[in-house]
Amino acid sequence: MSEKATLTVGGASYELDVTTGSENEKCIDIQQLRAQSGYITMDPGFGNTGSCYSDITYVDGAKGILHYRGYPIEEIAEKASFVEICSLLIYGELPDAETLSKFQDALAEHAPLHTNLEHHFSGLPTASPPMAILSAMLNLVSCFHPDVLEVYSEGHGFDRTAALLLSKVRTIAAYSYRMSVGKPFNQPNPNLNYCANFLHMMFSDPYREYVPNPVIEKALSLFLVLHADHEQNCSTSTVRAVASSRANLFSSIASGVCALWGPLHGGANIGVIRMLEDIKSSGRPIDHYLEKAKDKDSDYRLMGFGHRVYKNFDPRSRILKNRLDELLAELNKKDPLLDIALELEEKTLKDEYFISRKLYPNVDFYSGLLLRAIGIPLDMYTVMFALGRMPGWIANWRELHDQRLRITRPRQIYTGSQERSFVPLEKR
Ligand code: CMC
Repeated sequence: MSEKATLTVGGASYELDVTTGSENEKCIDIQQLRAQSGYITMDPGFGNTGSCYSDITYVDGAKGILHYRGYPIEEIAEKASFVEICSLLIYGELPDAETLSKFQDALAEHAPLHTNLEHHFSGLPTASPPMAILSAMLNLVSCFHPDVLEVYSEGHGFDRTAALLLSKVRTIAAYSYRMSVGKPFNQPNPNLNYCANFLHMMFSDPYREYVPNPVIEKALSLFLVLHADHEQNCSTSTVRAVASSRANLFSSIASGVCALWGPLHGGANIGVIRMLEDIKSSGRPIDHYLEKAKDKDSDYRLMGFGHRVYKNFDPRSRILKNRLDELLAELNKKDPLLDIALELEEKTLKDEYFISRKLYPNVDFYSGLLLRAIGIPLDMYTVMFALGRMPGWIANWRELHDQRLRITRPRQIYTGSQERSFVPLEKR
């Protein structure tokens, strides 16, 4: 017999279905509760509310576990390329050699931007925020490729739109950087792999072509893989909310980019580096910053710490931390900010405030240091997160359509004035 939960409220009892996920996560299904009882449930920030059943990503926040389609992140982070992970997340299985090769061909085919779309960059001030450019340009792509406005979640139409998005977004990201430094655009090179092609578009100059560097490409691929999906976070939930109105893939994902921009979400990777630079240049002890973060009269937070779901180490942060030392050695670099970050982490792990609230370094804590090591400019960090999160957003967009989910429309409890009569201006 299936498990039930009983809710007793207002003198009546209601039987609610209990459902269980494939990793034994439990859920009380309240979909019929309002119709049966008149009650809604309240959960601002949706900290304890499931919005969907999903096959894509599994997170166990208490144990610090992350799986993409069943594969532990520790196992795939260094072994799989970002393009393989895109295919895995979007289509559900690791691609075989032929599928991967077709997917790579599609990415190469769609990399160039329409010439008239390229011209739009020249109308923007050079100091434009790259995240604003990214979200605006994603919407503009549909003006040049109206077919992407069609809503397909399967078949050739979907495959083409998904590849077009994954590829164009990389070119747009690189061009937003080129524009900001007043340098000419580099056309994509179909002979380079996904990461090398991005680095070429970012860093090639007429007098100095980008020389493929496997160490840097591998580190970039690792960064993208670690950001590829993270179940129902703020930006993915935004993509799903927009998609639930049956909006097209590009507009849904442009909204995800905007949601990611904030400092509590993807913008935290810039915040971490600014915080570490501030600690370094101020010459103040780290304890000063810990006290500031603990002070309830201050809005100051340690960037890169805490997570809604992880109440243990974020496995992505561990992988990045372990990789950083090796990467800096391979590149023959030193970074004084890494020493500050390590000391900060060590101190928080012994501090009652952070222990009792289960605040551990999250993915953003070490990811900026990796991007710094491979030469990505600071204001591009959140764009890099967006590049990485594309396959997760696409997979979630597709799943929502395949499941024909209802339009997202939460309820509220109204706390404003009760009904009253209009008072004409002369009598107010
Ligand atoms: N520094 C100091 N105190 C913190 C921090 C922090 N980074 N994060 C949470 N707290 C405290 C918070 O003040 C609260 O304390 P109290 O119970 O005394 O009021 C308690 O911990 C719980 O915090 P919360 O704000 O209720 O937690 P949340 O689940 O709503 O927020 C978070 C999660 C990630 C937004 C938050 O931890 C935060 O602001 N962290 C800093 C920004 C950051 O690193 N964001 C990246 C998130 S991971 C990747 C991503 O999704 O982009």
